[in-house]
Amino acid sequence: MPPPNTLYLSALPFLFLFIFLSTSHFFPNQSSPFSLSLFKPSSPSPEVQIGQGIIVGTIIDEKYPAPVEAFLGIPYAQPPVGELRFRRAVKVQASDERVSAGKWGYIIGALGFLPSKLTFEENIVNLGLHDQVFLLQWVQDNIEAFGGDKNDVTIFGLSAGAHSIGHHILNYKEGTKPLFHKAILESGAPTSRAVHPYDAPIHAEQFALFLNLTNCSSPPPPSSPILECLRTLPSKSITTAQTAVFDTYNPSLRWAFQPVIDHELIHGRPIDVWKSGKWNRVPIMTGHATNEGTFYVPRQVSTSEEFTDFWRTLLPHFTESDLKRIEELYPDPETNQESVYREERNMSALGIGSQFKRLEASYAQYAYICPVLQTASIVSFSSSSTDKKQAVYVFHWAVNSSVLGGANHGDNMYYESFQESITSISERQKEISGVYHGFVTSFITSKGGDLDGVEGRFGKGVKWGKFKGRNGEERKGQNRKGKVGSRKE
Ligand SMILES: *[C@@H]1O[C@H](CO)[C@@H](O)[C@H](O)[C@H]1NC(C)=O
Ligand SMILES: *[C@@H]1O[C@H](CO)[C@@H](O)[C@H](O)[C@H]1NC(C)=O
Ligand SMILES: *[C@@H]1O[C@H](CO)[C@@H](O)[C@H](O)[C@H]1NC(C)=O
Ligand SMILES: *[C@@H]1O[C@H](CO)[C@@H](O)[C@H](O)[C@H]1NC(C)=O
Ligand SMILES: *[C@@H]1O[C@H](CO)[C@@H](O)[C@H](O)[C@H]1NC(C)=O
Repeated sequence: MPPPNTLYLSALPFLFLFIFLSTSHFFPNQSSPFSLSLFKPSSPSPEVQIGQGIIVGTIIDEKYPAPVEAFLGIPYAQPPVGELRFRRAVKVQASDERVSAGKWGYIIGALGFLPSKLTFEENIVNLGLHDQVFLLQWVQDNIEAFGGDKNDVTIFGLSAGAHSIGHHILNYKEGTKPLFHKAILESGAPTSRAVHPYDAPIHAEQFALFLNLTNCSSPPPPSSPILECLRTLPSKSITTAQTAVFDTYNPSLRWAFQPVIDHELIHGRPIDVWKSGKWNRVPIMTGHATNEGTFYVPRQVSTSEEFTDFWRTLLPHFTESDLKRIEELYPDPETNQESVYREERNMSALGIGSQFKRLEASYAQYAYICPVLQTASIVSFSSSSTDKKQAVYVFHWAVNSSVLGGANHGDNMYYESFQESITSISERQKEISGVYHGFVTSFITSKGGDLDGVEGRFGKGVKWGKFKGRNGEERKGQNRKGKVGSRKE
């Protein structure tokens, strides 16, 4: 089971807030999806008055160097139930109520991402991304009441959370200031996997299946009772149908319920948007793990034909010669003694086929590693070396957590949050966790996202230089307009 994909937001100096996002592997408690959690150093009175009411916090002091005030589950929008289901988020009404909810929330799966021609016409594709924009606006309106700086907001996400953040970076609007000032994208990028148009055949097929399973496929607009039908279903029916749709396409990794090109938040193919040079220029920290594909690719693949079929299904627009090129880039371990994808582990003990390593490596590079390095490359290439706002830092997470998985997608998440499950393993693991945690928090707390000086218990004196290209070469011909030019990424 892969970890939930995460998106964190933080507005500092002292606040830390996050919401979790995910693919449909991880369905949330639907009762209050629009809520967020904030953390700050404790004060005698953990209560904050904002427009919508008094928010009551709690003190957490377990094993932290100092006690922390936590505001868990602050509602930032009305729950998306009944008439509000499949609609953009709606503000919480002001009241004198004291709010002390205990869960954080998010909108994912069909409720957050249900692309189709119909939902596009109804203005409700990419609802999950709209929620995030809504939340960032909430932060602008309210964060000062919690002691935060609305001009120093960091957004922070892993996997689908990182893809989302990439979309917010690319969502540049002339004359409009972005609602965030630094970004951390872990194991993800706007060019990760495929971002399709809202009416792509794959999503049309998934939408039809979803309607079939909810018994809501009836005549098309203008009579359109489809959304009325979906709004009145019990939420159990929605989750059952979305799980079935997701599971139908999951084996081939053609995931349902994804962000799509809507010409509003996602202006076009992300690669074309990068090339246009129009994106929100903020300091970026990004990176990937070694074995990003271990959770996802089929394990038993044991022939070169199965390897190629995987790619043929995933990327139906690829020609036979494109597929041939993939085969050459990842030499077949069966026929090529020199192939680095030859399996030396005990395959029967691990339950893997002889093409697992090859498929895993190629999918890892396709879906995560190359898009991450592409982001770093495009952003650093386009910025002037004297422009602090365009700092880019890149990490490669290489700490193996198991023989089968190596360094898996999401493993670093447990280290950056200095979790006891990691720090209790050994002093060495605690140190790795502390150093990484230190870098992340330094990036968030420093003005301009400068990582050169890490303070704290771990990592003093450890330098993490700015990204300068794969071989450490300084970028030449920097262009503030961000033209990607002819350089092959
Ligand atoms: C959702 O969370 C609430 C509050 O924690 C809990 O009472 C409820 O049973 C949960 N519902 C589901 C479907 O898990
Ligand atoms: C759809 O209709 C079928 C057949 O009547 C029924 O078994 C199924 O439970 C219905 N599904 C939903 C979500 O109502
Ligand atoms: C769902 O699809 C099945 C198989 O194609 C079909 O028999 C059934 O009538 C459809 N149900 C609805 C409600 O459209
Ligand atoms: C590989 O694992 C299998 C099953 O666990 C075991 O029977 C076999 O002896 C192992 N082979 C080697 C070479 O260790
Ligand atoms: C980490 O795991 C990979 C297999 O995924 C293996 O090739 C590599 O040697 C391992 N590294 C260490 C340091 O154990």
